Amino acid sequence: MSKIILTGDRPTGRLHLGHYVGSLKRRVALQNSGEYEKLLIMIADAQALTDNFDNPEKIRQNILEVALDYLSVGLDPNISTLFIQSQIPELAELTFYYLNLVSVSRLYRNPTVKSEIQLRNFEASIPTGFLCYPVSQAADITAFKATSVPVGEDQLPMLEQAREIVRKFNSIYKETLVEPEALLPENNACMRLPGTDGKAKMSKSLGNCIYLADSPECVYQKIMGMFTDPLHLKISDPGHIEGNAVFTYLDAFCEDRHFPEFLPDYTNLDELKEHYSRGGVGDVKIKKFLNNIIQEELSPIRKRRKEYEKDIASVYDILKAGCKAARTIAQETLDEVKAAMQINYFDDDSLIQAYMDKNSLLSS
Ligand code: TRP
Repeated sequence: MSKIILTGDRPTGRLHLGHYVGSLKRRVALQNSGEYEKLLIMIADAQALTDNFDNPEKIRQNILEVALDYLSVGLDPNISTLFIQSQIPELAELTFYYLNLVSVSRLYRNPTVKSEIQLRNFEASIPTGFLCYPVSQAADITAFKATSVPVGEDQLPMLEQAREIVRKFNSIYKETLVEPEALLPENNACMRLPGTDGKAKMSKSLGNCIYLADSPECVYQKIMGMFTDPLHLKISDPGHIEGNAVFTYLDAFCEDRHFPEFLPDYTNLDELKEHYSRGGVGDVKIKKFLNNIIQEELSPIRKRRKEYEKDIASVYDILKAGCKAARTIAQETLDEVKAAMQINYFDDDSLIQAYMDKNSLLSS
């Protein structure tokens, strides 16, 4: 079976380092591996509207921001199809049929949805579209017969729900849909990069993000202000690695090759950690090291972004072409789904034939 990737992001803000190590970097590597027959990367505006329906302007503006982030990290529109969810009406149609296969109690049990409901104070009144977005996400994935979905771990419940829908559809109707698998980040630090303040997650509302589009000066300021170890007051004090955001970022970004260039007193991260724990390494030193690594990582991303920013019309053209290509695939799947569900009345001559045969039997 050919390997197909589908994944996406909600366009609710610019993408940050958490998105980058959690998923974007992996997508580019998968794209460049040549192992996948198709890669589809979706800007999930319809899903973003399920909890931002009262702020369409925000979603509209961020479509371009996310598209620029995609292109600047190295997703290549000649290899990967970049498209916008709302422009593929087949996804809404698939969702409508899949809703029959999912109970309301199952939707309430989805742990990611549960925590999002709490976060957004939706307890008293949950928009139905929001409660059902995992079903629409199953449509996103299955419309393209995706085998692999590179995502962060918070998306595992969505994948599980999609797999359940696939199994149910295939067993009730006909073997049509493909069960997808999640591709998680390999490295624990990448799985959930904390904010610069050491809080569990980068989040726009907490103001603790480093954005891919931040200027070098801005990134430097943010790194120098990062949370480290509140007990590490003097350089000679022993320092803690656990819970120290700078070290978590180093776990996510640092490679041995960075030492000769940026910190030649050590050969690898274990040595640096060992010295820091023992005492004798200052926070400014580790922050400057981290800054060098991050700036090196972001520099080609910034360069590509600048190029694309010179011609925004061409970015919209890339998205438009992507939508067209994505739609062709989704249409094929929808046709198969409708045939499996026997709602393909005008493509099925046997319907006419069966009636004629019955009539001729009766009249003879
Ligand atoms: N739920 C994802 C997010 O919060 C976005 C998304 C929508 C998605 N549809 C998808 C991810 C399909 C992977 C596959 O960012």
